[in-house]
Amino acid sequence: MKRRSLFPALASAALPLPDLKLFDTAPETYWKRLRQEQFLLPDWRAYMNNGSLGVAPKPVVAAVEEYLERGAGMIGSEYPRWGYELMEDHRRVAAQFLGCAMENLAITHNATEAMSFVAQGLDLASGDEVLMTDQEHTGGKGAWLLREARHGIRVRTVPIPLPPNDSAQLVDRVISAIGPRTRVLSFSGILTTTGLIMPVREICLAARAKGVITVVDGAHMHGQIPFRIDELECDFLAGSPHKWLFAPPGCGLLYIRDAMLDRLWPTVTTEAWTSRNLKAARFMQVGTNSRAVLEGMVAGIRFAEAIGPDRIYRRIHDLARRARQHAAAIPELEMMTPVDDRLYGGLVAFRMPRPLFERFSKKASAEKMWIYGSDLMRIATHIHTRPEDVDRFFTLLRESRAA
Ligand SMILES: Cc1ncc(COP(=O)(O)O)c(C=O)c1O
Repeated sequence: MKRRSLFPALASAALPLPDLKLFDTAPETYWKRLRQEQFLLPDWRAYMNNGSLGVAPKPVVAAVEEYLERGAGMIGSEYPRWGYELMEDHRRVAAQFLGCAMENLAITHNATEAMSFVAQGLDLASGDEVLMTDQEHTGGKGAWLLREARHGIRVRTVPIPLPPNDSAQLVDRVISAIGPRTRVLSFSGILTTTGLIMPVREICLAARAKGVITVVDGAHMHGQIPFRIDELECDFLAGSPHKWLFAPPGCGLLYIRDAMLDRLWPTVTTEAWTSRNLKAARFMQVGTNSRAVLEGMVAGIRFAEAIGPDRIYRRIHDLARRARQHAAAIPELEMMTPVDDRLYGGLVAFRMPRPLFERFSKKASAEKMWIYGSDLMRIATHIHTRPEDVDRFFTLLRESRAA
């Protein structure tokens, strides 16, 4: 098919990935070429906010664009929509990457929707308790609060020490907060506020031993850290692959453990809502949607696989460690990220005095550095982040102290 794209010089210019032999001999050159050749980020943009929204590389943009064109021309035999279909090919790719069975994985629009599907869909009676941490994202806790207002369930929060001493302290904090009325434990696998990696498996196993359902808000997990869902022992996990997994915005994932498939009521329904044999696909019968976005999601997963999730993790964590070391050397900053490497991936956070933040954010914006935070600052490092972006961030911060 002859492609006529609005941005032919951009997306369709995706080159093959740099050879991994280059990674072995000159890793910095490999990452530099990867950014230049695979991303549309202009050279002047330092983007350090993957924690909110990730960056789709060229093959992902090309996949979306191409599918939109094919769909609008009705060129292929596939129906250019989803919302009534099972999308097994797409789910299989995602499930393989995430480490679970395709039958347990539904496609949603984002983590917020997946979390709402769980919170709205579980049978809970007035007085039943949902326990969550005090660090939950509004997209993960909103639906529980709605049920509290509407159905009289009780939502209780457990404070998370920031930074914690170690992961055993986190398990103890969360599990010892479970009370006689606790039915559900809803918590983030990686905290949105500081990037802390929670000991998900240990918490889920201990909660199950107490008969408590576990719901993991995994918006930050896939793409940032390597893991397999089927080793986490959670009942539900919600994902937003647009953050760290190179997908375009508008796609999300919901994992549902076998034992929960029949306990969850669908929130959005079409005719198939009664078809339990569809397993997790029963929760994605949500009406007409753009399939182009899902083609982008698959292209994002393929992109991550081609580079290698472990290689990606090591790179983003090395950059985050560099950021942490810079930050720890500035006396005005109060570190929220612990020293222990196992407790953070590609997110580093610290508090700073408000006037310092105000001076710094003006400088960062003048340099077109895209940061996220307030006096609680969170830096996200991904494979498009350059070591010099991290260094420049802290040079600007040090200059802002002196100002
Ligand atoms: C932990 C966590 N959960 C949920 C969300 C919401 O993600 P989305 O807007 O993709 O639904 C975010 C977004 O930052 C998050 O950090």
